[in-house]
Amino acid sequence: MHIVMTGGTSGFGAEAAARMAQAGHRLTLGARTPFPDTAQTRVLPLDLEDLATVDAFAAAVRSGDTVDALVLNAGLQLAKPGRMANGMEKTFFVNHLAHVQLLARLLDWLPAGARVVLTGSGTHDPAEKTPVTPPDHADARRLAFPETDPALPQSARKQAFRAYSSSKLANIMTARHLARLRSDLSVMAYDPGYVPWTGLGRANGRVIAAIASLVVPRLMAGDRSSTVALSGGFLADLATAPAYRREQGSYWSVRNPALVRIEPSALAQDDAAAAKLWDDSLALLGLA
Ligand SMILES: NC(=O)c1ccc[n+]([C@@H]2O[C@H](COP(=O)([O-])OP(=O)(O)OC[C@H]3O[C@@H](n4cnc5c(N)ncnc54)[C@H](OP(=O)(O)O)[C@@H]3O)[C@@H](O)[C@H]2O)c1
Repeated sequence: MHIVMTGGTSGFGAEAAARMAQAGHRLTLGARTPFPDTAQTRVLPLDLEDLATVDAFAAAVRSGDTVDALVLNAGLQLAKPGRMANGMEKTFFVNHLAHVQLLARLLDWLPAGARVVLTGSGTHDPAEKTPVTPPDHADARRLAFPETDPALPQSARKQAFRAYSSSKLANIMTARHLARLRSDLSVMAYDPGYVPWTGLGRANGRVIAAIASLVVPRLMAGDRSSTVALSGGFLADLATAPAYRREQGSYWSVRNPALVRIEPSALAQDDAAAAKLWDDSLALLGLA
């Protein structure tokens, strides 16, 4: 298979990419920092903070070999609220909007039967009661411009947490909507569980990130804490294993040691909200 992937340079995404390459698949990775090509893996520039690179990446992908799977795994989590130069909230922009732009550029070109996997997170679901402030809504305009959001928490840390969980909700809802837009694709959303020792906590500094990696798994239900190896392996499976070739927007969650299909939050199952999120996201990107 030929797999195109974001977020394949670090954390469990790098593990998934390595496993897929080892299994003989060919990969095209989008990377914001230079990364060496290998026999199995081609690396192209992609910085999700820069939509010109998203467009160039999409154009390069379209001019290359047929894609069998598109894995949208890149993501960041900030310690305090961040903004893009255009004024939009950074976490929502990078994790969701830039991926919507990539999808919009590739959607008419992906062949029937291709898979799309979007990495979400259990933090999207208030019922999971994670330490991350859960989403309050999936209104793209309010998420892009939080100063217009009456539901914005007071504390900067909670604002950053909510921006993250909301962006992951948006990833899951995008998978659901994509499955309706292109029912001939196999579309999935993925919750890797809590995965310590990745780069995700880097905005907090190395010491706090290391402490979190040591402590958080002890505070969680045992099956919600995972490892780079386990979550990377499951991401590779979703992208390549025959079992997942006919999915219609399903949500797969790591319940260590298993990967299980579950329902996401009530809001994540709202098809009208997912359609509006997609339309509003395209409008924010100037693509509507
Ligand atoms: N770790 C967890 O507990 C956990 C739980 C639920 C969901 N997730 C999600 O899982 C995914 C992978 O996270 P991880 O934990 O493996 O973290 P990670 O090690 O920080 O990996 C994040 C990946 O995203 C890439 N990325 C970040 N910003 C980018 C940008 N502006 N342009 C292009 N690529 C960018 C990173 O590239 P660089 O190598 O250049 O940094 C890296 O490949 C994320 O979507 C995250 O939200 C993680």
